[in-house]
Amino acid sequence: MKLENGIQQPGFLLALRFLALVLWSFPGARALDNGLAMTPTMGWLHWERFMCNVDCQEEPDSCISEKLFMQMAELMDSDGWKDVGYEYLCIDDCWMAPKRDSKGRLQADPKRFPGGIQGLANYVHSKGLKLGIYADVGNKTCAGFPGSFGYYDIDAQTFADWGVDLLKFDGCHCDSMEHLENGYKHMSLALNRTGRSIVYSCEWPLYMWPFRKPNYTEIRQYCNHWRNFDDVYDSWQSIKNILDWTSSNQKRIIDVAGPGGWNDPDMLVIGNFGLSWDQQVTQMALWAIMAAPLLMSNDLRHISPQAKALLQDKDVIAINQDPLGKQGYRLRKEDNIEVWERPLSDLAWAVAMVNLQEIGGPRFYTISIASLGQGMACIPDCIITQLLPVKRKLGFYQWTSDLKIQINPTGTVLLRLAAN
Ligand code: GLA
Repeated sequence: MKLENGIQQPGFLLALRFLALVLWSFPGARALDNGLAMTPTMGWLHWERFMCNVDCQEEPDSCISEKLFMQMAELMDSDGWKDVGYEYLCIDDCWMAPKRDSKGRLQADPKRFPGGIQGLANYVHSKGLKLGIYADVGNKTCAGFPGSFGYYDIDAQTFADWGVDLLKFDGCHCDSMEHLENGYKHMSLALNRTGRSIVYSCEWPLYMWPFRKPNYTEIRQYCNHWRNFDDVYDSWQSIKNILDWTSSNQKRIIDVAGPGGWNDPDMLVIGNFGLSWDQQVTQMALWAIMAAPLLMSNDLRHISPQAKALLQDKDVIAINQDPLGKQGYRLRKEDNIEVWERPLSDLAWAVAMVNLQEIGGPRFYTISIASLGQGMACIPDCIITQLLPVKRKLGFYQWTSDLKIQINPTGTVLLRLAAN
């Protein structure tokens, strides 16, 4: 093959490209066999924004109640969220009544959920959405509501009977590692036995890390996604901590991610109060690179057009949802710039460059194209499109070219490299 400048493209480079296609196509470890989460789950989850507000007297618009979820369901349907893929509307902690019913079943707080979870599920389904719920493997939920220990089969069946489509299973108040591990496995099998398709979202590794190293191959056989690290907060420090943890542990965690099972770095907090515009861009770009579940925790009734456009950016969502399902990784960190990359289907690559320097203005960074995608992102040449912070075509590049990019402080430039 001849390049424009007359350089011959060695045949072995093309052969490498083909080899890459074959290698990337090998599946990772075996996934939970429920046919769900073939791409990372997308939706909305109440925790970060609404937490455990149960005071509907004082704060009727932001307490955890069926009204809140019905309003969000309506907006997910009417404001374009569902159309771009946000499908699961998820309840977190604090939905329960303080006690189980006379048959040992969990029940929703009757004042805050007068129609019950089944009524809410019907409403959510009528909007073409799916409903997620929350429970805990131990004796109590993190906020002190009834735990599922000793009730796994009953609870799985109750959720299925109500028409629930996703379970977030937390790990508070569990008295031993053995109970934690057995509990997560037991609930997975119990959900499967109900015959209903229920995405199973775990926090198993997060609660294991302080005691022993999680066996991710095993976790993937039971869970559709799993939290590894601390709860996300509405702050830049929190986003940085999550990215640091992920890159520090990437050797251990990225290969296990793939269709059916994903690492979960926690909710998107875009559209809230704590992140600047550039920091919101960083969260969106890096959650796409990490093949993370995209579960927003914000108030869809009050969200800026800019945050909404970022969350609904179809090109970025397409990277997150790429069918190859390979999680990206941090390629390098130098001089306060991080470069992350992710292999995509059709031999394309996503590349994110983050400027972590919090003094000064936008910085230029130059990278050789040949160093991207394990040398194969742009063989023999490619078209580069910048997706974030704004979409624009950067044009035609050769393997031997350099790429010079300008990145705002705490911001990210997200690129897509594709065959010419
Ligand atoms: C834990 C979880 C959070 C949230 C709260 C609810 O902290 O990690 O995501 O579910 O419990 O109490």
